[in-house]
Amino acid sequence: MAVPFVKDWDLVQILGEGAYGEVRLLVNRQTEEAVAVKVIDTSQAKECAESVKKEICVHKSLSHANIVRFFGHRKEGPTVYLFLEYCTGGELFDRIEPDLGMAEKDAHRFFQQLISAVEYLHSVGITHRDIKPENILLDDNDNLKLTDFGLATMFRFKGRERLLCRLCGTLPYVAPELLRLPEYKAQPADIWACGIVLTAMLAGELPWDQPTESCQEYSDWLQKNTYLSPWKKIQPLPLSLLSKLLLAGPDARITIADIRKDRWFTEGVKRSAPGSGANKHLRSDPGLVSRDVRDDGVQFSSSQPDFAAGGWEAMLFISQTEGQVSFSQPTKPEHMLVCSQLLGTPGASQTPWQRLVRRLTRFFTNVNAEASLTALTEACDNLALNFKPACGKQVTVNTLDKRNNKLVFKVHVLEMNQRVLLDFRLSKGDGLEFKRLFVKIKQRLGDIVSTQKIA
Ligand code: ADE
Repeated sequence: MAVPFVKDWDLVQILGEGAYGEVRLLVNRQTEEAVAVKVIDTSQAKECAESVKKEICVHKSLSHANIVRFFGHRKEGPTVYLFLEYCTGGELFDRIEPDLGMAEKDAHRFFQQLISAVEYLHSVGITHRDIKPENILLDDNDNLKLTDFGLATMFRFKGRERLLCRLCGTLPYVAPELLRLPEYKAQPADIWACGIVLTAMLAGELPWDQPTESCQEYSDWLQKNTYLSPWKKIQPLPLSLLSKLLLAGPDARITIADIRKDRWFTEGVKRSAPGSGANKHLRSDPGLVSRDVRDDGVQFSSSQPDFAAGGWEAMLFISQTEGQVSFSQPTKPEHMLVCSQLLGTPGASQTPWQRLVRRLTRFFTNVNAEASLTALTEACDNLALNFKPACGKQVTVNTLDKRNNKLVFKVHVLEMNQRVLLDFRLSKGDGLEFKRLFVKIKQRLGDIVSTQKIA
């Protein structure tokens, strides 16, 4: 998509939130193309402006099929907008079922693509430093796209490699040497994080809180206690690769050249008789949480009203005119079609809104907004979750996950087409823990979860 930054971009919805700010979906009224815009408020910290400059500099230099494309940026006062390829498939973590993972065949394909992205990055002397499922997106054809270069840096320049010292990343994904040594090599640290992502894909859980010997799960791994979870859920061939990816010593750890020679990496999932073999409880095609089938088994179909015409009242539309951001009414739904991204794809039978806002952590209820909100707050009470009402019909839940890490998410109560939707969105914390809690709350709300077949 050549991106002419013509005016009249409708700001459709928030795709994600992070410490930096938000990522929003923009759709062009005239061309009907979609882009994601990452909005960064640099006024909080002086370092922030510098790190955004670096993120832009790194990301704009990259060009690879498995890396989110960078289209351009714009600065307005302290706010910086990064225009990025919009990935309709959402985050990889939405394909990971808590405690189950995904079909081995899908994990294999995603892992191959992740390694291609990382191999490319390393070939141009860049290390990502924050590889995790939340920074891995999927396009319309389920192709993996690595994103968020906010912590990326150059580790090789004109053939000379430098060691890194900044302790950064996300603890469950960081390599042990970062917590041990003053300096570390860039490439093995990224490879370790790929190993943790592979574990999450195959087992639906992260192996440890952090790779220190004080952490029991990590000590168990060092002692090769693979009869324990998550390892016992993983087939021998991918487990053998994991034992090379998650080697404590960075110099002994497998390199990308050798990953490419690994048996599971090259051969993938062995064909096996139906009903036997790895992850047989998971559908593999389409994936566990696939394009058309939600985790609750409800099928989307093109006749489903969902987010098509109507439901606009739930969205805020901002149109950018002559560099000014102004609020406006949305154009008609058909103007929001993302033709170039939709046509000829497997998802083309769906309405644009189904494609644009394909997220799994939400469900319709069979009661009104007020009753939905009451039921939700009761469920939070029962689960001893700390929550507070936020502006409008919204609740913010602030809790700790099973590892005592902060987990914050928002639940929006949206009224659309005479129906009420509870939409859960992670603000802070581990995506898998968030999904786990979403499933628990949904179970508690069993009585009010709409079971009506939508097709
Ligand atoms: N969430 C964060 N960045 C995104 C992007 N580029 N496309 C879709 N969802 C996103």
